[in-house]
Amino acid sequence: MATNITFHEGAVSYDERSQLLGQKGATIWLTGLSASGKSTIATALEQHLLRKKLHAFRLDGDNIRFGLNKDLGFGPKDREENIRRIGEVSLLFSSSACITLTAFISPYVSDRQLARKLHEAHNPPIPFIEVYVDAPLKVVEERDPKGLYKKARNGEIKEFTGISAPYEAPTSPEIHIKTDECDIEGAVKIIAEYLEKQGLLT
Ligand code: PPS
Repeated sequence: MATNITFHEGAVSYDERSQLLGQKGATIWLTGLSASGKSTIATALEQHLLRKKLHAFRLDGDNIRFGLNKDLGFGPKDREENIRRIGEVSLLFSSSACITLTAFISPYVSDRQLARKLHEAHNPPIPFIEVYVDAPLKVVEERDPKGLYKKARNGEIKEFTGISAPYEAPTSPEIHIKTDECDIEGAVKIIAEYLEKQGLLT
């Protein structure tokens, strides 16, 4: 734990930054089982926003675990730390007036809540939009693009979400997308329309 540290305010407030750059920041927090469609939606949404000339950036579970979080595994404590760090990083990005897309299983309600609270505590609060990327276990097991569910069922992967580790589904997400009923373009449209209504696409 560091001591004797002082927080340095910048010369440009969030509102001024946002005005100068012509856009507001937000974190769009995608949560759901492995293979539910989080990364695919985040990738398509990032492209959609960039093509509208909005600064958007995607933080993705697998990718972040190659670098920033490569010291973390999949036990409950490591997942908690994974999401704690991503909560902080997503706030850094979104407070720089970037639309930040996070695609992490983020299986625990308490960890997602902590990330939300961080955004709410910012001055001014930064929108935190939780998107439940929902697909039944049966469906994601059938998709199994990386063969991980098969390995988990065979006991080759321990603590696999949905099989041998918990997933606590959101009870009141801002957006709920059922990916077994909706294609990628449909999912992007739902999120983009929500952002538009919140005045975040200007
Ligand atoms: S978490 O729970 O939020 O910390 O997980 P996350 O950082 O999003 O990483 C999920 C991706 O890691 C791969 N993987 C596993 N997932 C769940 N459980 C276990 N044990 C596991 N081991 C490896 C898997 O490819 C996940 O990617 P997605 O994109 O979700 O399918």
